[in-house]
Amino acid sequence: MKMMSRKLAMPLLGVLLWVISIHAGTFETATLLPPPLTGFGPSKSIIRNHCDVPKITEKDLNRSVSFGNSVINRMLRLETNLGWSDVHVKKGTPSYGQLIASHPDEEALKQGRDALVATKATIQLMNIFCHKHHLSPTDCSKYISSYSLASTPLESSCQKQHKSCSQEELLSPYRSFDGSCNNEHDSPRGAAFTAYRRLLQAEYLDGIQEPRRAVNKKQLPSARLVSSTLIKETDESHSDLTQAVAQWSEFIEHDLSHTAANKMVHSDSTIECCTSSGNHLSPRYIHPFCAPISVPNDDRFYAQHGVDCMSYVRSITAFRPDCTFGPLEQVNQATHFLDFSQMYGTTGKKAAILRTFDEGQLDFTTKHNKVFLPVSHHPSDDCQLSGDNSVCFLSGDSRVNIQPQVTAMHTVWLREHNRVAKVLSELNPAWDDETLFQETRKIVTAEMQHITYHEWLPLVFGKHYFNKIQKYNNYDENVNPSVSNAFATAAVRALNSLKDGKLNVYKEDRLVNTSINLRNHFNKPSVVEEPDYLDGLVRGMATQSSQQLDLKFPDDISTHLFSNGIFGYDIFSLDIQRGRDHGLPPYTAYRALCGLPEVTQFKDLSDVMSPEVIESLSRVYNSPRDIDLIVGGIAEKQTGDSLFGPTFTCIVADQFLRTRRGDRYFYTNENQPAPFSIAQLREIEKVTLARIFCDNGDDIEMMQPEVFKRISDSNRLMKCDSGEIPKVNLKMWMDSRRKYY
Ligand SMILES: *[C@@H]1O[C@H](CO)[C@@H](O)[C@H](O)[C@H]1NC(C)=O
Ligand SMILES: *[C@@H]1O[C@H](CO)[C@@H](O)[C@H](O)[C@H]1NC(C)=O
Repeated sequence: MKMMSRKLAMPLLGVLLWVISIHAGTFETATLLPPPLTGFGPSKSIIRNHCDVPKITEKDLNRSVSFGNSVINRMLRLETNLGWSDVHVKKGTPSYGQLIASHPDEEALKQGRDALVATKATIQLMNIFCHKHHLSPTDCSKYISSYSLASTPLESSCQKQHKSCSQEELLSPYRSFDGSCNNEHDSPRGAAFTAYRRLLQAEYLDGIQEPRRAVNKKQLPSARLVSSTLIKETDESHSDLTQAVAQWSEFIEHDLSHTAANKMVHSDSTIECCTSSGNHLSPRYIHPFCAPISVPNDDRFYAQHGVDCMSYVRSITAFRPDCTFGPLEQVNQATHFLDFSQMYGTTGKKAAILRTFDEGQLDFTTKHNKVFLPVSHHPSDDCQLSGDNSVCFLSGDSRVNIQPQVTAMHTVWLREHNRVAKVLSELNPAWDDETLFQETRKIVTAEMQHITYHEWLPLVFGKHYFNKIQKYNNYDENVNPSVSNAFATAAVRALNSLKDGKLNVYKEDRLVNTSINLRNHFNKPSVVEEPDYLDGLVRGMATQSSQQLDLKFPDDISTHLFSNGIFGYDIFSLDIQRGRDHGLPPYTAYRALCGLPEVTQFKDLSDVMSPEVIESLSRVYNSPRDIDLIVGGIAEKQTGDSLFGPTFTCIVADQFLRTRRGDRYFYTNENQPAPFSIAQLREIEKVTLARIFCDNGDDIEMMQPEVFKRISDSNRLMKCDSGEIPKVNLKMWMDSRRKYY
């Protein structure tokens, strides 16, 4: 025990050093994590005239872009053939559920095509200039990344994202919908449809785009084999935490990141990488964007259904942050900020669809006299439904219907927005729709940020780390808020392990009335608007236990995700595959980045993993340096009072520090165009998720003050209208200056 804690002191020291270095503004020294990207601008000049590095001329660059274009154009023939065939994503299949979750927006697709041209161009440059100079793929791709797309035909496409902001935009009291103009010197920083940030250089087999291989140059073990070897389906409950922790985690994830799967480049057609019965396609039908997961023939679940293939379509490519040639990056369709983009939308256009333009309200529907989310006009497209007569909701994010608790959370917050807007309109009769809408959005977003940082985060990565990042909460324009690929693709995904496959629906006396199995409700949200269900689900979040964060997943998500009624997908396999698609280096590299000792043999993992887990890992991986990040991250024992082991704690801490420090519009930042007054901040600080649940259920009478923790003697159920669950006094937003003219 004693030895363990000393070993864990290492990563703690690492974070501390890094935090200190950020604080001191000296990014060059002793940084655990790489400095924030310096942002857009002409790419940093590196010495190109070194004797053994080839010189690449503008003409060469242009030629490579033409080559890139020709590669993309050549895909037309295959895509036309696929169009004639029956190979596309069919409704009702698990692939369709996956398609909804990773639904690509037009902006992402458009950029993705051009960014892919840049990637293909990079491949050609490597072939011409690096092979004969004996540069390793990694060194070569690093070198080619120093060449800018400026002065090539791709310049305008990449620059489009980098529009400069007007003075009016920079001085706006409200954040933009797409996250642009947040940073005064780097307008696209943190905006929707920009690339994820890298903690470590991407690791691709060819340095550019091919998923990495094992250390021994063979294929890595199939993602499903890794998953089925490690994951157990018997889950264990957490003694203190509730499902609200799991549900809030997913809700926040949807705010911070949205990775999209490719569609065909020459049409709007979807890509399917397996047959609809779950078998491998004949090679001539496999789209180059496919990276299907092979399911072993003796799989403990899939074998009985004859399934040997799980579809996986590679993520949409983004331009690199400083518009250079170089390896594949992935686009984040959400804004990188914690700004409720999953509710308000990530473009002005989308936001407009979600508003009534009357009294600052968000659009809604009513059923049984209760307010619900607006509904989709194409339910069988936007949900996994067989016909158009079931309900499917609309919000800022395609994942709003993914499972009933996500829909319930969206519903509660839509009601909160409309509740606040109504109070503000009574307090400020002179305010127009736009003022009411934006002021409400600002307050509601601040409530969400406060709950995330003050209620949820301390429980997720523990008081110890929380106190560390607490000290550094001032806005710093040099801190890049962008979401890291490792956070979005691995660390935050580990929180899925907290889920229960069965959602209990509780009555007011906190007895279970009924329960629903997740597997029957993926992208089928109608249960949410049935009488008593919304309250029952909300009480469920606050009452039912969370599971432990470990290598145990309920089979509702480990074999029945997006189920077709017989089988579904395995969430962990998909996450492993996505990590490889995104070029995430192996677990051992992140571990080292976070300050843990280097690993050369499996037994070196014993500082953070149990012997049984190490044994399972060594059965499925050939070398410890093959272990996928999400696998090693979850396999670690928890450190201190964090739900995560040291590596994920470090990645999550990095993210949430940046998410606050790098956001000019963060609710606590006094140096934004229209900061909250001290009195207003005092009010925002009173909010709890318990208050949100109390105010926005149908008929919820009691809540415990801390809903992320189970009901106990120190966290007893209280009447919602008692003073025990504080209220935000909106009178502080009464605008006496503008009121009566
Ligand atoms: C490269 O392409 C750009 C944009 O099409 C063009 O302006 C430039 O003159 C080209 N340069 C050369 C050397 O061909
Ligand atoms: C309990 O469930 C039944 C049916 O599932 C429903 O009709 C009833 O309204 C529920 N009661 C409460 C108090 O939730």
